[in-house]
Amino acid sequence: MRTRREFFRLVSAAAAFPPIAYARRTKDAHAPVLANVSGDRSLRAHADAQGLLVGCAVVPERLTGEPAYGSLVAEQVNLLVPENAMKWAALRPAPDKFDFRGADEIMAFAAEHGQKVRGHNLCWHESIPAWFAGTVTKENAQQFLIQHIQTVAGRYAGKMQSWDVVNEAIDPKSGRADSLRKSPWLDLIGPDYIELAFHAARQADPTALLTYNDYAIEHDTPDEREKRGQVLMLVRRLKARGVPIDAVGVQSHLSVTDPPPGAGLQEFVRELRSMGMQVFVTELDVNERKLDGSVAERDAAIARLYKEYVTMMVAEPNVSAVLTWGITDRYTWLNGPKYGRADGKPQRCLPFDSDYQPAPAFFAYRDAIDSRRRAGSTSGAAAPEKKTPGNSDDPYAPFTPKPAAPRTVPQ
Ligand code: G3I
Repeated sequence: MRTRREFFRLVSAAAAFPPIAYARRTKDAHAPVLANVSGDRSLRAHADAQGLLVGCAVVPERLTGEPAYGSLVAEQVNLLVPENAMKWAALRPAPDKFDFRGADEIMAFAAEHGQKVRGHNLCWHESIPAWFAGTVTKENAQQFLIQHIQTVAGRYAGKMQSWDVVNEAIDPKSGRADSLRKSPWLDLIGPDYIELAFHAARQADPTALLTYNDYAIEHDTPDEREKRGQVLMLVRRLKARGVPIDAVGVQSHLSVTDPPPGAGLQEFVRELRSMGMQVFVTELDVNERKLDGSVAERDAAIARLYKEYVTMMVAEPNVSAVLTWGITDRYTWLNGPKYGRADGKPQRCLPFDSDYQPAPAFFAYRDAIDSRRRAGSTSGAAAPEKKTPGNSDDPYAPFTPKPAAPRTVPQ
């Protein structure tokens, strides 16, 4: 039996969001999402109104094989990113073979629904096919990397909003002065693999925005501040060498039980803007595995984090896209064996729950998208490049993060 205080807390938490008209809870998982979040009430419509790209990671088999999933993706976002279909492991069944079926399905779905696509990813230390270790050597690694990028980015040239060219290459714990992560590409080619990948991508698709994508750079913890600094130094080095790089992807795998990102990340985004760089929120989801409480209480905390984080990010003029890593809890990677809740309950980490119903996080996210108008940021265009105050012109000079200013979350 709940106490009066618990009941009041539940009601006030639930009252914080507009009433959600739930579809009839049938066994049929294809129960369509009610119209109250479709059309001009969708994330897509609100993002279009702000000139913002709003997207999600998708899986091709579900786009075509699961009507409720496909219709949700079609109505809610204007930008798709393959969760796995454009990774090496999916594209490369053999050293001399490419399998584009999944990737092509995503491109076709996007074309049918007037959506853009961002590619993920051309070079990563994970999702490497089994044949790689026994086939790729120091002698042929450059050729394999360039050929992969020329073939994959070349296939979709002119159709991609952006590419994650290199993913997660920074690891401050690697012990290297440049903090590059130990990876097969670093071992086989050396540190230049990164600029090699970006040059090959620009040559293969001159129109896509070339992106460096990473995680654990969001929070104001010593480790994440250090990693952010190393990412900035990498970008500075690449730009100093004339490497074509246009954007940084901030993956944004947040946790509702951590202190929320704030001034340190704002400073990072602004630093990148002064370097002429755009920023994308590339893989947003909220891990709540350690959160106790009822569904209503958990939902309220998750929604608050969506509201605060997306409001803060879209207030920055050079933040031009926000993508969640999936759209429904039904298929989130966070409900896998490694990241699931100890109590076995499904994580509620995305805008739509496992029954394709809009969670409170949906409404919070949509409100945050609207806040871009009030913040006056109208385009994702990065500022013209100018010298970054507080750091020397030497691109190899250590980046010294300024002490965190008091957090300001734009109203
Ligand atoms: O497709 C194979 C299937 O044929 C096989 O039977 C099955 C069992 O081994 O594996 C399937 O591949 C799995 C793939 O997801 C597709 O489901 C891989 O094992 C599995 O490792 C892979 O996990 C993905 C992971 O990246 C590694 O690529 C997750 O779905 C995906 O959400 C996750 O996404 C990453 C981003 O790319 C980068 N940022 C972090 C993010 C979360 O880890």
